[in-house]
Amino acid sequence: MPALVLLGAQWGDEGKGKATDLLGGSVDYVVRYQGGNNAGHTVVVGDQKYALHLLPSGILSPGCTPVIGNGVVVDPSVLLSELSGLNERGVDTSKLLISGNAHIITPYNVTVDKVTERFLGKRKIGTTGRGIGPTYADKINRVGIRVQDLYDESILTQKVEAALDVKNQMLTKLYNRRAIAVEQVVEELLGYAEKLAPYVADTVLVLNEALEQDKVVLFEGGQGTLLDIDHGTYPFVTSSNPTAGGACTGAGVGPTKISRVIGILKAYTTRVGAGPFPTELFDEDGEALRRIGGERGVTTGRDRRCGWFDAVIARYATRVNGLTDFFLTKLDVLTGWEQIPVCVAYEIDGRRVEELPYSQTDFHHAKPVYEMLPGWNEDISKAKSFSDLPKNAQAYVKALEEMSGAPISAIGVGPGRDETIEINSFL
Ligand code: GDP
Ligand code: IMO
Ligand code: MG
Repeated sequence: MPALVLLGAQWGDEGKGKATDLLGGSVDYVVRYQGGNNAGHTVVVGDQKYALHLLPSGILSPGCTPVIGNGVVVDPSVLLSELSGLNERGVDTSKLLISGNAHIITPYNVTVDKVTERFLGKRKIGTTGRGIGPTYADKINRVGIRVQDLYDESILTQKVEAALDVKNQMLTKLYNRRAIAVEQVVEELLGYAEKLAPYVADTVLVLNEALEQDKVVLFEGGQGTLLDIDHGTYPFVTSSNPTAGGACTGAGVGPTKISRVIGILKAYTTRVGAGPFPTELFDEDGEALRRIGGERGVTTGRDRRCGWFDAVIARYATRVNGLTDFFLTKLDVLTGWEQIPVCVAYEIDGRRVEELPYSQTDFHHAKPVYEMLPGWNEDISKAKSFSDLPKNAQAYVKALEEMSGAPISAIGVGPGRDETIEINSFL
């Protein structure tokens, strides 16, 4: 019963989409277990480029069943337009399964996301504005709307009423916005019911039965470890658990079933939105990483903040996720630097600190301690095996592996499926 979790080891955008797609051809199910259409996963197949937000990246592999688990928040209009966009490009999406327990991002959740960010002013999180936080807040407050509610008009109406009761007071009295009419929301949501019906399933049962039958299941995380609501740089995080434990709660699969946890790790670091980022660069090196790496958000189009590799973060990701492997991505982007700085520790108020500090104050004060590694100039995008890499690139990978605490089992040297060096098989 091989069950693999594939997740972001940094602040998201590590290349999870590409890695999932690569494995998609050999697995039976690919499952999203948290997050929603805040994710932007780019998959390049031949000369075709796909940007997926809500659908699991396995949707592009014909033999694979894509699953949206109970831990995901679903914006039905985004889901339907993503499905029709893929259908227009000839991708068969008929195998998709959606958990009836997944929560729905309603139009009022999107409104609340935008107004709360505006009111936070300079303390804002820099969310994607997709309604993610408010939808998870409703879930925890027990006033959320679930996919299954679309099939009982009376329950749906009662639940929308309950959710809007307080929100309309807040919108009108605090935020100076117009109240949202219950009937309008109910009508819109009911309009999605029939279109989504063929996909709705008891995904917990399906996945557990699949594992009993020795099928291969891959859990695809959105966002990344440092954006985790519990283990990330709170409050500058997303509102779900991208870390490995999230796969269990977000898909209804017990931890004893998980056989491998793969951390996707960029050969440098990026971040979108606000929050601390010790190795962030504000100079021409940062500009160069952004330009060469194409570091622009798939979801919001915002420029990503860029910096050098941070081994403290990678070690932390190994620990909180129980990583068994790393998939190192975008090594090709580092070609051309004479020397590449790697952050090996932090200096915090005069002290050298080797591990991620649990205190927010300390993390905000953390200054990177760099070790310089020699760079390389050779084009590595055609490398097929580790030995094809120039010696200094090999040494860079080995140094990262040693500092990060888990074996690097694959290396990305370009965005395409085949631009990958496989070192240890994942299956
Ligand atoms: P995700 O959110 O983790 O799926 O990552 P994104 O898709 O948001 O961002 C990763 C970007 O890097 C995408 O444009 C990918 O096509 C690209 N990419 C992935 N792996 C590699 C790699 O090894 N080299 C290069 N040059 N690009 C890569
Ligand atoms: P993928 O799956 C990078 C960031 C936002 C913001 C914070 C909270 O492509 O790696 P939210 O809308 O989730 O409430 O915003 O989280 N964020 C991401 N950053 N990649 C992502 O997804 C992200 N999803 C959310 O920029 O800082
Ligand atoms: Mg992304």
